Amino acid sequence: MALLHGMSPLAGFGFCLLVVLMVVMPNQANGSSRNAYFGQRNIVIQPSGICATSVIPHGYKCQEIEVTTQDGYILSVQRIPEGRLAGGDAKKQPVIIQHGVLVDGMTWLLNPPEQNLPLILADNGFDVWIANTRGTRFSNRHTSLQPDEPDYWNWSWDELVTYDLPAVFGYVYGQTGQKTHYVGHSLGTLIAVASFSEGLLVDKLKSAVLLSPIAYLSHMNTALGVLAAKSFVGEITTLFGLAEFNPKGAPASAFLKALCAYPGLDCYDLLTALTGKNCCLNASTVDLFLRNEPQSTATKNMVHLAQTVRDGVIAKYNYGNPDFNVMHYGEARPPIYNLSNIPHNLPIFISYGGQDALSDVRDVQLLLDSLKFHDVDKLTIQYIKDYAHADFIMGVNAKDIVYNQIVSFFKHQR
Ligand SMILES: *[C@@H]1O[C@H](CO)[C@@H](O)[C@H](O)[C@H]1NC(C)=O
Ligand SMILES: *[C@@H]1O[C@H](CO)[C@@H](O)[C@H](O)[C@H]1NC(C)=O
Ligand SMILES: *[C@@H]1O[C@H](CO)[C@@H](O)[C@H](O)[C@H]1NC(C)=O
Repeated sequence: MALLHGMSPLAGFGFCLLVVLMVVMPNQANGSSRNAYFGQRNIVIQPSGICATSVIPHGYKCQEIEVTTQDGYILSVQRIPEGRLAGGDAKKQPVIIQHGVLVDGMTWLLNPPEQNLPLILADNGFDVWIANTRGTRFSNRHTSLQPDEPDYWNWSWDELVTYDLPAVFGYVYGQTGQKTHYVGHSLGTLIAVASFSEGLLVDKLKSAVLLSPIAYLSHMNTALGVLAAKSFVGEITTLFGLAEFNPKGAPASAFLKALCAYPGLDCYDLLTALTGKNCCLNASTVDLFLRNEPQSTATKNMVHLAQTVRDGVIAKYNYGNPDFNVMHYGEARPPIYNLSNIPHNLPIFISYGGQDALSDVRDVQLLLDSLKFHDVDKLTIQYIKDYAHADFIMGVNAKDIVYNQIVSFFKHQR
């Protein structure tokens, strides 16, 4: 039984990507070129997709689905409609699960089946939908653009708020006719609270679970992370252009080397330095993680996250020049997402860790402050002293500590 103490892979938000560059990454199969349609529209066969590799072998049903956003991105979604012991005639409540940045929906499924969140939810009678953000390997198509065109990468997390989440919510609602529960990790929490604050999605939402929440980021407490964030709002775009940010590419590798040459930075234990000291990871799961992640994202998305770190407010993408901001927003400064506008009666469950370097407890406190007018009985907060960023999705004891609480929270909402 090998638990890696102090070993914390990226999982979710992060400049963590840097880490992986220090590890030899096997070449990853390209998930394009496939997709025989059959039967029902939107349902596709992907021989190497998430269902085929990580769900069906464990004895669960799983459908690969394509959902097209209003701006043309074709997203891959996996549906696990029931548990291994099907049955139960009651209408199952849908749950949408949303991963963080630089990873994809696969990260939820890396632990053994009895330990991972999607399959635990399915076995508890939920209809599970795993989302994959634009630009990740199974969501890398568009109705007219190709991923090798810079225009394909012209988006930040604003577009995940405006297009990706509404597309997935709309599809699930259309199929099930029911309001959905939501689980987000890391960036999956930021885009959710930003959406809810604009009044989006809430008409199709039953409740929301926020794991390792990032909203405010100004206390992110890793020297390397802070430096990386500074670079992303600084010279970075001349290094990468405003297109794809591929953590496995040569420019990212050079970027890492340059950062690590900085006086006082210790890149030896980079994983811990970036995400915090995860208490409870399984060595086999970490191996699997490194074989599957990280995934590309848009450089503009990283810049936008870095602006959030720098500015200490949750606002739309800053074009860096008042005139450009006026052009896009009609104001010199980008509009803010005011989290106090999240409907006060929305059931929310927040779980955060004492060792999490990306979701620092002081930033979580700011998030909680902005929810201070929330109905007291609609807000559940869990603090896990030993947990860091990756423990929430891959911890060997996450079932006992977190997932069972999520299940009972959801059941409580019925
Ligand atoms: C770690 O993962 C391996 C492979 O999935 C599994 O066989 C083993 O039981 C896991 N260990 C623990 C402590 O959960
Ligand atoms: C990127 O998209 C924005 C709108 O979101 C548009 O104003 C801008 O011109 C686009 N940039 C490029 C380089 O196409
Ligand atoms: C957010 O909204 C609340 C209540 O609607 C208001 O009191 C607060 O000033 C707003 N915050 C900002 C930064 O605009």
